[in-house]
Amino acid sequence: MKTLKIAIQKSGRLNEKSVELLKNCGLNFENYKSSLISPVSNFPLEILFLRDDDIPEYVQDGIADLGIVGENVIQETEVEVSYLQRLGFGKCSLKIAVPNNSDINSLADLHGKAIATTYPAILGKFLKEQNITSDIRTISGSVEISPGLGLSDAICDLVSTGGTLKSNGLKPFADVMSSEAVLIGSKAIAESDLVLELIQRIQSVLRAKE
Ligand code: PRP
Ligand code: ZN
Ligand code: MG
Repeated sequence: MKTLKIAIQKSGRLNEKSVELLKNCGLNFENYKSSLISPVSNFPLEILFLRDDDIPEYVQDGIADLGIVGENVIQETEVEVSYLQRLGFGKCSLKIAVPNNSDINSLADLHGKAIATTYPAILGKFLKEQNITSDIRTISGSVEISPGLGLSDAICDLVSTGGTLKSNGLKPFADVMSSEAVLIGSKAIAESDLVLELIQRIQSVLRAKE
C-alpha cells in the first residue's frame, strides 16, 4: 500500500495546533522536528515538517499528498491545489500597518510610499483594486522592523494577537485579507480509501470541537 505524506509547519504559529489535530485523529508519531520526517506507526502516513511557505508547492508538485497551511500562503503562491477543509485554527489577518507617529491616515496616503511585505502578490492585487501605486518591497521576514530601519513607510504582514506590531511601535491601518489554517491536497491524489479515511478522521475531530 502506498504511504501518504502530509506536510505541516516545522515551527511557528501553526505547528502546535497541526500536531495536536493529527494526534487527535489517533495518529501515533514522534514529534521529531530535527528529523523533518516522522513515520506514523499506526497508519500508512509520513509527516513532513517544512517551512510553511514551501508547503503549497510541495503539495502542488505531489511530493506531499496533503498539507496544512494558512490560506494566505496559498493565495500568495497561486498554486493549483485542492482545498479540502477549513481547520478553524490559526486565525489571523493580513494587515497594513504604519508607525504610531506616521502621517499616513488613509489608503490614498499610501500612494508613492514604500510598503515592506512577505506577501507581494496579495498586496499588489489589493493596491491595484484600490487604484493605489506604492513601492512594494519584498522581504522574507522580520518585516515589522523595516519602518524603524528606514526601509519602508508601512508594512503588510500577518497579525494574530497584535503583539508583534505593538512591540515594534506599529499600528494596524487597513485589512487586506483574513486567513486560517486549511487542509489542502494535491490535484494528483486519487480519492483513495486512505485519503478519505484521513479526511473523515479530521472532520470528526473538528465536529467534536464544535
Ligand atoms: C506572523 C507575522 C508576525 C506574527 C504576528 O508570522 O509575520 O511575525 O505572526 O503575530 P502576533 O500578532 O500574534 O504578534 P508567522 O507565524 O506567519 O511566521 P513566519 O512569518 O515566520 O512565516
Ligand atoms: Zn511563513
Ligand atoms: Mg513573521
